[in-house]
Amino acid sequence: MKITRREFTKAGLGTALLAAVPGAIAGPEDLIRRPIPSSGEEIPVVGLGTNRYGVDTSDAARAPLRESLARFHELGGTVVDTAPSYRTSESVLGDLIDGLGIRDEIFLATKVDKTEGREASDAQMNDSLAKMRTSSFDLMQVHNLSGWRESLPLMREWREEGRIRYIGITTSRANQYEDFEAVMRAEELDFIQVNYSLEQQESAERLLPLAADRGMGVIVNRAFGGGRIFERLGDQPLPDWAAEFDCSSWGQFLLKYVISHPSVTVTIPGMTKARHVDDNIMAMHGRLPDAELRGRMEQMFAEI
Ligand SMILES: NC(=O)c1ccc[n+]([C@@H]2O[C@H](COP(=O)([O-])OP(=O)(O)OC[C@H]3O[C@@H](n4cnc5c(N)ncnc54)[C@H](OP(=O)(O)O)[C@@H]3O)[C@@H](O)[C@H]2O)c1
Repeated sequence: MKITRREFTKAGLGTALLAAVPGAIAGPEDLIRRPIPSSGEEIPVVGLGTNRYGVDTSDAARAPLRESLARFHELGGTVVDTAPSYRTSESVLGDLIDGLGIRDEIFLATKVDKTEGREASDAQMNDSLAKMRTSSFDLMQVHNLSGWRESLPLMREWREEGRIRYIGITTSRANQYEDFEAVMRAEELDFIQVNYSLEQQESAERLLPLAADRGMGVIVNRAFGGGRIFERLGDQPLPDWAAEFDCSSWGQFLLKYVISHPSVTVTIPGMTKARHVDDNIMAMHGRLPDAELRGRMEQMFAEI
């Protein structure tokens, strides 16, 4: 059965589902949102990363992803990030979004990474549109700066034509930060996407403040270090003071650290399991840590 969020809420299903989520305190209307600097449009601060959505066509492989995406949408999430290089992720998402009938309620972001010039980038973006079964993207990003000189002017043309709403660039590697900063200083961009976490705080030194100065939205990738941070935390208990910012899991702790940075617009944790969606969406509820608590989080993490 296809069901839109509007129908879902109308049927009272949202309330029932939220009641089933441990620690649920509010509905999708009450999620923490941030404005996109270039437009003022507000988006929920936790999105969905899909670099592990590149599965085959079998129902066994796709069912958990369908469930995760449906739950994400039902709980009020909108921003979904993917890329042509994430194997079949674009096609899988195209099928799942179409099947759930939720394209209009998803903020769809993908990437372009061609280095052979304008025609190749144009062909790749058209291919992404077809795979994702859409006529436009909310956000198109240059992946790891690959081919940015040729792609950015083309992306602006697509934006003029209404086929892309926002443009940006991405990285997840500190050895690209110098080049990344140079592009941020030279180009007009709606968004940057960069890695930032309790484990990897280097982007907060120059890139995040620069994004605020330049009026660019910030999408944070790898808030969990690709999952590695959970291994480092092991079975360490959550500190009592996590309750001071309404946090009841390590996932929420790590996400609330990221989204409480004043330059950050949205973070996109990778989630292929619905229980991780339930957990992470809760990071968009309640209080966020202030500067003093953020310092305590950093100190605690450094001592692990
Ligand atoms: N250069 C770039 O443009 C670039 C580079 C890297 C990533 N990205 C984007 O950023 C997204 C996020 O990066 P990522 O997926 O590599 O790393 P990540 O978000 O740091 O970590 C994802 C991992 O954390 C697990 N997880 C999620 N929520 C959890 C929770 N509450 N408790 C315990 N484990 C949890 C996931 O498990 P399950 O999958 O089992 O749910 C997955 O194994 C990517 O999907 C992609 O969209 C972009």
